Amino acid sequence: MASSYCCSRLLLQSQSWRLMLRFSPFLATSPPSSSLSFSSNCHVSSSAQLTTLQQQQQPLPRSSQLVALEYADLNLSHNLDLGHVRIRQHVNPLSSSLSVPAQVPEWNHAFADPTLPLMVDIGCGSGRFLMWLAKRTPKERNFLGLEIRQKIVKRAESWAKDLALDNVHFLFANATISFKQLVESYPGPLALVSILCPDPHFKKRHHKRRVLQKPLVDAIVDNLMPGGQVFTQSDVFEMALDMRNQFDEVETLKHIEVLNPSMLCDSEGWLLGNPMGIRTEREIHAEHEGAKIYRRLYQKPCPCQT
Ligand SMILES: C[S@@+](CC[C@H](N)C(=O)[O-])C[C@H]1O[C@@H](n2cnc3c(N)ncnc32)[C@H](O)[C@@H]1O
Repeated sequence: MASSYCCSRLLLQSQSWRLMLRFSPFLATSPPSSSLSFSSNCHVSSSAQLTTLQQQQQPLPRSSQLVALEYADLNLSHNLDLGHVRIRQHVNPLSSSLSVPAQVPEWNHAFADPTLPLMVDIGCGSGRFLMWLAKRTPKERNFLGLEIRQKIVKRAESWAKDLALDNVHFLFANATISFKQLVESYPGPLALVSILCPDPHFKKRHHKRRVLQKPLVDAIVDNLMPGGQVFTQSDVFEMALDMRNQFDEVETLKHIEVLNPSMLCDSEGWLLGNPMGIRTEREIHAEHEGAKIYRRLYQKPCPCQT
């Protein structure tokens, strides 16, 4: 029993590595040293076998190490001058201090060209995911991260400055109440909104703390440009279903069943793969634990398609 648990864990972790190698070419030269070829040593003595096994069973990477590896090409500094940063795991978005709408930034200070199509990541966490995207698409798209934990916003801003990225911006904001005002004031079109692994707030009486509420759905749909998209994902089925139900109800959004020939949905309508080209941190942690990620992609049709 124990050994089969161990084997399946090893198998999952090797799958995680395979996924990472697919997403991150820079990893191709550093696969984990714990390859799973135990059986090829069956001709050696048992003590030699044990030594070989011990050598092969070097500690498997922790998921925080996987995050660092997946985002290694950002080369983020860990010596930011932020003083002592103790980051809280959770905050209550309904607390009065977090119910104040965020101040709309001067968009031409936030972005070099504030007329570019905008992607907004709601609950962006550390910001690594957006910085990775911003680095790959300079001059094409702006990226705005909304995050309710102020300290990680401060750190993300410092990282973006360090990397001299002029197409990514982070805002300390309760997205549920600030999104509408922010995107309505943005000079360019809203091209993509992502809500990736939002906090599930499992207890029924806490569902009102979930970031995606009806007014936010309406604000996303109303402001999305024709052809604009909404991407949701969660490793928590209940949470993925909650987001799916809310967006499925919107008549002006179309669920994308086939993104391209190699990116289809399964029979339940969940996208079979990550269309972004990089995993979020929560996604890396969840896949490391063997979880499935439930993804949906929606599009506001262009007038010519309706
Ligand atoms: C589970 S984490 C996921 C982070 C990231 N999207 C990922 O996939 O790795 C959820 C994030 O949403 C943030 N968050 C929760 N409620 C929010 C709200 N109302 N407005 C903005 N951010 C929120 C949390 O602080 C946290 O960083």
